[in-house]
Amino acid sequence: MGDIHLMRDELRPPVDPPRRHLMSVADLSREDVERLLGTARSLARSLEREMKKLPTLRGRTVVSVFYESSTRTSSSFELAAKRLSADTMSIKASGSAVDKGESLKDTALTLGAYDPDVLVIRHPQIGAPQIMARHTNAHVVNAGDGKHQHPTQALLDLYAMREAFGRLEGLHVAIVGDVLHSRVARSLIQALALVGARVTLVGPPTLIPRGIECMGCSVSTTVDAIADADVVYALRMQRERMQEGANYVPSLREYTALWGVTPDRLRRGQRVMHPGPMNRGVEIDPVVADAEGSLIETQVRAGLVVRMAVLYDLLTQGPTAVPTAAVKDPVAAVAESVA
Ligand code: CP
Repeated sequence: MGDIHLMRDELRPPVDPPRRHLMSVADLSREDVERLLGTARSLARSLEREMKKLPTLRGRTVVSVFYESSTRTSSSFELAAKRLSADTMSIKASGSAVDKGESLKDTALTLGAYDPDVLVIRHPQIGAPQIMARHTNAHVVNAGDGKHQHPTQALLDLYAMREAFGRLEGLHVAIVGDVLHSRVARSLIQALALVGARVTLVGPPTLIPRGIECMGCSVSTTVDAIADADVVYALRMQRERMQEGANYVPSLREYTALWGVTPDRLRRGQRVMHPGPMNRGVEIDPVVADAEGSLIETQVRAGLVVRMAVLYDLLTQGPTAVPTAAVKDPVAAVAESVA
């Protein structure tokens, strides 16, 4: 597998600029985050014009491959690429040759034959984006791999928080719910630490990974801990990732009673976020989701401009993210997620 990759890389002329990827928030410096959020802000201003399309990525090709369902990430990446005038192609695993047993490597080699500039991939297996990077010459963006990472979600969350508060440094964010199965939480904890925000994780002990405090956050198993937070970030109960037969909570009704984000648990001025899709009435009360203090729609809007910024950044400039030579072995990515 590695030999084929090496031969392909050696035989092909290097692309200009060299390939870089966005695999994980851990790949980013604070400077990278600031630059990406600044670019997203400028792009948001360009979208206020009647003519929303920019010629920036004309002649470039952005291919999205989604092996898991998605509404927000897949649609915003596609629209982001189109707003920047790139050619786009979107593939869903269901209905593709994956149904006939095609491997990820063969899908990568097949799509790579079209010479895409960027490959956006979502996959239930940790390390799948690294496999894509090994077997294509595209810049690869991780749009969510298992419970490992979802870096563009974290960036859009930072963008939405900054829009609401005008700052990130010193903010206190309470992340509530199923942290154990959440790539969103892992990426967001790292991103908030990078920009100097404080994080408290809140939820049942069975859904908070043991030792996660080493990521620089504190942990509480009682919902009262959200009282002090500027932002209450509710996570979806990810039933599809829960081990069959494991009882993480006695029932969803009990979960809601003890940890649900409900109007009576919030104070005036607190802002509520959720990455979506929401289980209304489970982790978040519908009244909270639709209230004025909710930033959920802001997050969706932020997703478009932040993903435009990521595509722009990878294809046109500077030092974001990991160069190909530094891409972790897929096995190392799995190890990082367990650590
Ligand atoms: N937040 C998020 O990743 O949503 P989708 O699954 O709809 O892309």
